[in-house]
Amino acid sequence: MTRVFSGVKPTGHLTLGNYLGAIRRWVDVDQRQSDALFCVVDLHALTVDHDPARVRRLTRQAATLLLAAGLDPELCTVFVQSHVDEHARLSYVMECVATDGEMRRMVQYKEKAARERERGGSVRLSLLTYPVLMAADILAYGTDEVPVGDDQTQHVELTRDLAVRFNQRYGHTFVVPRATRPGVAARVMNLQEPTSKMGKSDDSGPGIVYLLDEPDAVRKKVMRAVTDSAAEVVYDPQERPGVANLLEILAACGGGDPEDLSRGYQSYGALKKDTAEAVVELLRPVQERHKALCAEPAYVERVLRDGAEKARGMAKPMVDSAYRAIGLLPA
Ligand code: AMP
Ligand code: TRP
Repeated sequence: MTRVFSGVKPTGHLTLGNYLGAIRRWVDVDQRQSDALFCVVDLHALTVDHDPARVRRLTRQAATLLLAAGLDPELCTVFVQSHVDEHARLSYVMECVATDGEMRRMVQYKEKAARERERGGSVRLSLLTYPVLMAADILAYGTDEVPVGDDQTQHVELTRDLAVRFNQRYGHTFVVPRATRPGVAARVMNLQEPTSKMGKSDDSGPGIVYLLDEPDAVRKKVMRAVTDSAAEVVYDPQERPGVANLLEILAACGGGDPEDLSRGYQSYGALKKDTAEAVVELLRPVQERHKALCAEPAYVERVLRDGAEKARGMAKPMVDSAYRAIGLLPA
């Protein structure tokens, strides 16, 4: 059976981008058709300035939301990264396979490091090595497929390169994984700045729809989305990114194709209204289940404890064999 692994960072509240780009497929397809693991990757949240209590809170919230979105512990494994030591154990070994040049070429590193320096802050070493930890997350489980949004494809490519290099140097150990992406909404854009990704850790609140936003907040954000001054509704991501983003969101919510949908609209107002309602309806059941699960913290804790135990059992043999292959004496 195909092994699937993916994760989400607890660096902010989960967004519509996370849901449409990744989580919804985990729920609808991956957990049903594959042997899948989904992880709240809390170690990754420490790569930027962070407040310990907030990371803890967001980790619990992300796990609760994954279950609310429909991940079923009977069908897949849901756990928290730091509960399974094998990730950090393998990450060090992969640091001995990766090069510093490779790390410095990662687009996300370059962007985040530049932003941090602009603010006059320092860049944590872990921000540079983060893609190696991500590679370890994936490789520890013999993963075949990694369902992610577009922003993560470069990191999965790096993971492939590292797996191939390790296998060539030290003998066949790792499965070489591939990224899978959704048909539409692989990159949901910020509603206020439709040329940048809707990212949960960004500061621009009005352009980001959070999964736990109240219906009226969702409506307000979508109705105020930045579009352009043209009159017709046309799907053209290059020239008309704001409208294209709305059409993609609408298509992702209700099915259909953004270009076909564009033909049914004469005005931006009508498009925004339908998109807002589609998003509200998409989020409604998730929010209801989230509320119910918040009343059962012991259940969520048990799911995470069982998930970590299962994950540990899967990762340990793989990481042990990587340790042996690279020349470490078995304990
Ligand atoms: P992150 O929020 O960076 O932990 O991302 C978790 C998952 O959501 C990854 O698979 C990302 O590629 C995906 N994702 C995050 N933001 C977006 C977005 N704006 N559009 C599509 N996918 C996204
Ligand atoms: N880097 C990913 C992101 O920012 C999160 C992540 C960490 C991940 N480890 C992973 C995704 C392993 C897929 C597989 O979205």
